[in-house]
Amino acid sequence: MEVASGERPALVPVQGIPLIRYFAENWPLVEDFQARPDDVVICTYPKSGTTWLSEMLDMIYQDCDAQRCQRAPLHLRVPFLEFAVPDAPTGLETLSQAPPPRLIKTHLPVELLPSSFWRQGCKVLYVSRDPRDVAVSYYHFYRMAPVHPHPGPWPHFLEEFLDGKVSYGSWFTHVKGWWAKAATHPVLCLRYEDMKEAPSQQLNRVLTFLGRTLPPGGATAILAATSFTTMKANPKVNYTALPRTVMDHAVSPFLRKGEVGDWMNLFTVAQAEAFDARYQELMAGVEGPPIHPS
Ligand code: A3P
Repeated sequence: MEVASGERPALVPVQGIPLIRYFAENWPLVEDFQARPDDVVICTYPKSGTTWLSEMLDMIYQDCDAQRCQRAPLHLRVPFLEFAVPDAPTGLETLSQAPPPRLIKTHLPVELLPSSFWRQGCKVLYVSRDPRDVAVSYYHFYRMAPVHPHPGPWPHFLEEFLDGKVSYGSWFTHVKGWWAKAATHPVLCLRYEDMKEAPSQQLNRVLTFLGRTLPPGGATAILAATSFTTMKANPKVNYTALPRTVMDHAVSPFLRKGEVGDWMNLFTVAQAEAFDARYQELMAGVEGPPIHPS
């Protein structure tokens, strides 16, 4: 895999979905990935709470022991399926070393998830977030993660986001596809806003879905370890262990604000109205994420 010299690499479509160039180059191997029945998948459109849920799940599977979750950076504990950048192990390579049950992170839209996950009946936890906050978070992420194209000025990036011309394509198509999948496959749909408002309630939904129970004091330990403040200060989850060529925290930290409604600080009134109109058009008839797994 060649390092893009100087310029940021353009996105490359895979079955019509724009992906980070290095991810697209690695695609044939990802498509052939062989899932195990006990693999647990954490899936989101980027910037929707993946890192948060990943740490929560590792805490659950490590008996709520925060020290055990210090054993390695998060991207090694919860490998990122389609991840590939020059001079670093791919997500697939990391997964090949991971002991079962494997926790696997992905941002793939439903139609791109390797078919072995469906054949094996793997459980999927899907988090969605207010797309206006996603757009703002994604803009700052594009700025700090040079494996993406330059985001350009905010108004330009917002247009690209609405047109699905960003990495992983359209937010609208992504959430609609995954929410619909919950009717026929074990997909637990969570919302970032619910996790902020009532984290212990959402933790209980996760535990029920996974068929897990916690040791005494476990829920308290999980909520403490996965608070925004704790995670932001934790070098094993805040991605500061990655090279600057992948993420430059001097430009913008990965754990940036962790708030609901930050979009109001960046959107103009006209942008908010245009966003609403597009939302109404593209989400017509869609009520929101299903509450119960099938
Ligand atoms: P902001 O950029 O709005 O701060 P992902 O992990 O899917 O890439 O999502 C990243 C977003 O989730 C960032 O949003 C990040 O700050 C936020 N986040 C990560 N951990 C969090 C936590 N424990 N509580 C709340 N938000 C969190």
